[in-house]
Amino acid sequence: MGSLELKSIRKAFGTHEVLKGIDLDVRDGEFVIFVGPSGCGKSTLLRVIAGLEDATSGSVRIDGAEVINTPPAKRGIAMVFQSYALYPHLNVKDNMGLGLKQAGTERAEIDARVGKASTMLSLDPYLARRPAELSGGQRQRVAIGRAIVREPKLFLFDEPLSNLDAALRVQTRLEIAGLHRRLKATMIYVTHDQVEAMTLADKIVVLNGGAIEQIGSPMELYNKPANTFVAGFIGSPQMNFIAAEKLGPSEAKTIGIRPEHIALARESGDWKGKVIHVEHLGADTIVYLETEMTGLLTVRLFGEHRYAPDDVVYATPDKASLHRFDTNGRAIA
Ligand SMILES: Nc1ncnc2c1ncn2[C@@H]1O[C@H](COP(=O)(O)OP(=O)(O)OP(=O)(O)O)[C@@H](O)[C@H]1O
Ligand SMILES: [Mg+2]
Repeated sequence: MGSLELKSIRKAFGTHEVLKGIDLDVRDGEFVIFVGPSGCGKSTLLRVIAGLEDATSGSVRIDGAEVINTPPAKRGIAMVFQSYALYPHLNVKDNMGLGLKQAGTERAEIDARVGKASTMLSLDPYLARRPAELSGGQRQRVAIGRAIVREPKLFLFDEPLSNLDAALRVQTRLEIAGLHRRLKATMIYVTHDQVEAMTLADKIVVLNGGAIEQIGSPMELYNKPANTFVAGFIGSPQMNFIAAEKLGPSEAKTIGIRPEHIALARESGDWKGKVIHVEHLGADTIVYLETEMTGLLTVRLFGEHRYAPDDVVYATPDKASLHRFDTNGRAIA
């Protein structure tokens, strides 16, 4: 069991209000991801949930019970940080078991839980090694193992993979997805990585300036962003924004169009323009162009394309995939 309910969470450091009234419901077993610009309050919110930081006001309920005055160790939460924070002089086995030992758990029980976690995380060959003798990915798995053995109701992850190189990040991401499937535990996870957010989350929470902009499944946020902030934040490369008046009379102030929803051709199309820069990513080609109608546009094409700077091209948007926003930046249904 591990449901979480946040009501009107506010947090100020001095006069600086960092969380401005956060309401959030997380179901037991859900994988929830927090995204948002640097400094928007993601880590602070995790720390408030864990009890490492006192909220200025508001309520935190775990499985229906108020925990706002419960100390961190009694909340049934385990947190995994970006820095692994392992004890350098202890081997993997003892690092994973230390928390249980300190809580007075019996030796046999500790061994059983550490053994199970280490098998789950493929750490069995490394149990006798010290952290300095491990790769970054292995260290992060030990940090995750240390959280697992406590059998928490709720896992909190604060950018756990950001110290890892690209290949290891993919591998560890798959391991975390597998872990979530097997443990069926509630997980709350902060990341700057779009792919992690889109692939791991049941539900993404987009934070901005200490407030929630939108909550939804990855595809809801991608297909139906509630406002220009979410539209610009979710998706890479970023959505193109065009002043609606440039495209003719409209009730909208801004038109949004994702780079993957624009076709390019050399002979004809809606918007004539000139290529400025091309990025060949292998599976995709990103073309940056300037058109008379819209100004700068980013276009994402599937596969390899031989466009080059100064080429004259015509861009044609997929009309069914346009997003329209009003003067306040809110999506028009
Ligand atoms: N102990 C503190 N005292 C004062 N201000 C703090 C403290 N901790 C965080 N802040 C401020 O609160 C704001 C939110 O910080 P937080 O660490 O939650 O951001 P974040 O969304 O996790 O950012 P990042 O993506 O860079 O990790 C920032 O402006 C930060 O400077
Ligand atoms: Mg942070």
